[in-house]
Amino acid sequence: MTEMTAVNRAVNEATPVKPAHLPDAQTVTEVHHWTDRLFSFRVTRPKSLRFRSGEFVMIGLLGDNGKPLLRAYSIASPAWDEELEFYSIKVQDGPLTSRLQHIQPGDEIILRPKPVGTLVHDALLPGKRIWFFATGTGFAPFASLLREPETYEKYDQVIITHTCREVAELEYGRRLVESLKDDPLIGELVGDKVLYYPTTTREQSPKMGRITTLLTDGTVFRDLGIDPMSPETDRAMVCGSLGFNKDLKDVLESFGLREGANSDPKEYVVEKAFVG
Ligand code: A2P
Repeated sequence: MTEMTAVNRAVNEATPVKPAHLPDAQTVTEVHHWTDRLFSFRVTRPKSLRFRSGEFVMIGLLGDNGKPLLRAYSIASPAWDEELEFYSIKVQDGPLTSRLQHIQPGDEIILRPKPVGTLVHDALLPGKRIWFFATGTGFAPFASLLREPETYEKYDQVIITHTCREVAELEYGRRLVESLKDDPLIGELVGDKVLYYPTTTREQSPKMGRITTLLTDGTVFRDLGIDPMSPETDRAMVCGSLGFNKDLKDVLESFGLREGANSDPKEYVVEKAFVG
């Protein structure tokens, strides 16, 4: 052993353990708490990250064991945005969200820059109307797609339905939809194309009921003054709980729509809202 090595070793042993540096770290720029169960936040975007609006990435924090604790999160911001936005539930005993809900601007999170997902325009055949069906935090990928120019270039009409238990849980989506027309980048493209159909199931609101029921009995079409769904004109993307996705798939199939994929585009695609 050389003298130099021995000195280095002595220095290393005396150095206090530094706080672990996060791998794939991004910095939180904004946090908004919508209810005691829901919040959204924005983080810096890795320069090299390219994604298609509607895709998801793995994000998280370092666990107590020093290993990354990651969950899949849909990116709620569009592909052109300089930052990345996420919309999350807060689960008080959830391993990740019990901690993630306390992040503040300036904090770091881990973000693996490998976007994937099925809620992308490439997975659908051309059509006239696109439906986005969300429950709860399943709104997130549609927050991205509603701000995506391609959505308006490809379709004459964009119908977003959002079903939540309570009125306050609709707020993130409602504000986003309201902001579309005044958006300096896509406002003109949006025009009058967006129809917004929020419903609640456990608190009184102007429109009550599960969207599955409201589609099956024709209420949605009557309320919006539009034709029922057909495989010739309509395309759909679905994001909610497993039970919701399954039931809505059955409804879409009953209208004659078929499930597509990136490699085999058809009339609808489904993704589960991951953190719940
Ligand atoms: P409901 O209150 O009737 O269960 P959750 O918080 O459980 O994920 O539910 C979010 C929203 O999605 C609630 O309004 C809920 O209605 C609705 N929902 C849950 N499961 C289904 C389903 N299988 N089909 C239609 N809507 C559903």
